[in-house]
Amino acid sequence: MLTPPFPVTLSDERRLDRRRFLAALGAGALLASGGAWFARRRDARAGVTTAIAAATVADLAPGEARVVAGGGGEALVVRLNDGAVAAFDRRCPHLGCPVVWAAANGRFECPCHGAAFDARTGGVLFGPPRTGLRPITITVDEED
Ligand code: FES
Repeated sequence: MLTPPFPVTLSDERRLDRRRFLAALGAGALLASGGAWFARRRDARAGVTTAIAAATVADLAPGEARVVAGGGGEALVVRLNDGAVAAFDRRCPHLGCPVVWAAANGRFECPCHGAAFDARTGGVLFGPPRTGLRPITITVDEED
């Protein structure tokens, strides 16, 4: 039986290189996305803050809410019926769907799996989330 002097042909070698290249590319993309995720999570845990002018108090009637973008996400700012203002991260703590203000019910609701959150505390009223909405510190400076 005759065996070739070197068992890998040129075409095999190219396929091997392409495969390695794609594996390296996939690993690099995985590392990059993982790094970005860890950076966001680290910032969230470290309490990195960004001040954003959200609204003028007069623009928000009692019982109304507004979506404010900034700091890499969105927040819901609500003016409660007693005039107090509260703000929460818009991401549902269950699987991250954007929470909406349900004015008729006076609470935040997640359309994905039917969760509801208290407007004043962000706590879970019902639904699958185990934790409430993440509160955002809000400062009322004169009329803003
Ligand atoms: Fe909000 Fe599931 S993502 S209840």
